[in-house]
Amino acid sequence: MTEEIAEMSPLAAVTSGEPSPGRKVFIKTYGCQMNVYDSSRMSDALAADGYVPTDVMDEADLVLLNTCHIREKASEKVYSALGRLRQMKRQRTSEGREFMIGVAGCVAQAEGEEISRREPSVDVVIGPQTYHRLPDALKRARKGERVVDTDYAVEDKFEHLPSISAPRGKARAVTAFLTVQEGCDKFCTFCVVPYTRGSEVSRPVAQIVAEAERLAGEGVRELTLLGQNVNAWTSAGPKGERWGLGDLLYRLAEIPGIARLRYTTSHPRDMDDRLIEAHRDLRMLMPYLHLPVQSGSDRVLKAMNRRHNAHEYIALIDRIRAARPDIALSGDFIVGFPGETEADFEATLELVRRVGYAQAYSFKYSSRPGTPGADLPDHVDEEVKSERLARLQELLLMQQNRFAASCVGKTIDLLLEKPGRNPGQLIGRSPWLQSVNVDAKTSQIGDIINVRITATGPNSLFAEVA
Ligand code: SAH
Ligand code: SF4
Ligand code: F3S
Repeated sequence: MTEEIAEMSPLAAVTSGEPSPGRKVFIKTYGCQMNVYDSSRMSDALAADGYVPTDVMDEADLVLLNTCHIREKASEKVYSALGRLRQMKRQRTSEGREFMIGVAGCVAQAEGEEISRREPSVDVVIGPQTYHRLPDALKRARKGERVVDTDYAVEDKFEHLPSISAPRGKARAVTAFLTVQEGCDKFCTFCVVPYTRGSEVSRPVAQIVAEAERLAGEGVRELTLLGQNVNAWTSAGPKGERWGLGDLLYRLAEIPGIARLRYTTSHPRDMDDRLIEAHRDLRMLMPYLHLPVQSGSDRVLKAMNRRHNAHEYIALIDRIRAARPDIALSGDFIVGFPGETEADFEATLELVRRVGYAQAYSFKYSSRPGTPGADLPDHVDEEVKSERLARLQELLLMQQNRFAASCVGKTIDLLLEKPGRNPGQLIGRSPWLQSVNVDAKTSQIGDIINVRITATGPNSLFAEVA
C-alpha cells in the first residue's frame, strides 16, 4: 500500500462507496468482556474491508465507539465522546479528509435512531447482532445515507465474520476471549441486558471448536469463554445429545495448544452438576469463578427477580468448593436497589463475610429506563447508596487483600503474557487471575512457568522462578 493510494482512496470512495485499502480505524471499547470480544471481531470484519487498526485516534479515518448501557454513567460517556468527535469531524471535513463516526454496542441497540437525532455527525449506528454488516453500512454511509442497523439479524453473524484475526498490536496474544453464548432471558429487574442483547442464543459446538482451534493456531494458550449467561450455554453434542457448558469445557480441554480455560459471566441458577464436575476434573479449568449474587437479602433478591435466595447461593458455593477446594470467588454487588433497607444491606455484608471473595465489583443501583426496577417505589437516596457502597467496598477490599496475602509463599503456575514495567520482567497471570511480575525473557511469552509468590503490590503480585 503506497501513501499515494491511501491518500486518494477516501476521496474516490466518497463517490463510489467502494471499500478502499489503507484506511485506519480506532475502536474505543466500553463495558464488559463481550464488548472487548465484539470489538476484536469488528476489527476483523473491517480488516477484510481494507481497514488497519490504529491506537492513535488522530490517525483514524473511522472512529468506532463500542458502547455500554448498563448504568447511566456508562451511557452518558458516549454522548460526551461524540461531542468531541463532532469537533474532530468538522476539522477533518474542512481539510477535505474523510472522517467517519460509528456507534456500536448496547447504547446503539437501546437508543438506535435517537443517537443519530441527538448527534447528526454519527454516520453509522450498528447493534451487537448486526456488526458483521459494518462494511456494508459504511459503504452506504459514504453515499450519504445515515445508517441505523440494530435489527436482531436473522442470519448468524458469526457465520459472516472473517475467520482470520486482524493484527492486534505488537505483542502476540496468549489469552483470548471467545463468545459462546449471547443474550439473556433472566430479566433481573435492574438490568438492561435482556433488552440490549436479546434472548439467550448459544453458538454451536463445531463453530466454537473451530474458533478455538484457530486461536490456538495463532498462539493463544488461555481461552475465556464468554456469555452474558455463559453457563446457560447449551447445544447439541456430536451424537445429538444435549450438551451444557460443562460438556463443552471437557471438549475444549482436548484442543492441542490450549492450556487454560475460563468462563464468564455465570448465573447461580445455571451452575449445574456437570459444570461443577468439570471444576473437579479439569486441571486446566482455572480455579476462579465469577458468580454474581447482587445482594444478600432474600427480600431484595426476590425484588430483583434473581430467582434464588441467599441460602441457595451459599449452599452452591459450598458444593463448588467441595469439588475444587482451591477455587477463588469473585462477585458483583448492587447497593441501594429500590426498597433496600439497612437490614437488607447488612444481610449483603453478612453474605460477603460468609463467602469470602478474592475479587469483586460493586455498584450503586442505577435506575434504567424501561426496566421494571425503575418503576418500583422507595428509591434509595444517593447519599445512602454512597455510604453503603463505601462500607461494602471496605469489606471487599479487605478480603481481596487477605486473599492476595494468602498467596505469598505459594508455588504456582504462571502464564507469561506480556512485558513488565522494567526490562527483564514479564507480567503473567496466576490461576486466580492476578497479575504477577517475574524476571523472565520476552521469548518466554506464552510459556507457563513455575514461580513462588514473594510479595504483594497494590494491584499485582511479585514472584521468583521456583
Ligand atoms: N450477566 C451478569 C451480569 C451482567 S451486568 C449476571 O447476571 O451477573 C454486570 C453487572 O453490572 C451486574 O452483575 C450488576 O452487578 C451490575 N448492574 C447491572 N445493572 C445495573 C444497574 N442498573 N445498576 C447498577 N449495577 C448494575
Ligand atoms: Fe442482567 Fe440478570 Fe441477565 Fe445478568 S442475568 S445479564 S444481571 S438480566
Ligand atoms: Fe454493557 Fe452491554 Fe456488556 S450493557 S455490560 S456492554 S452487555
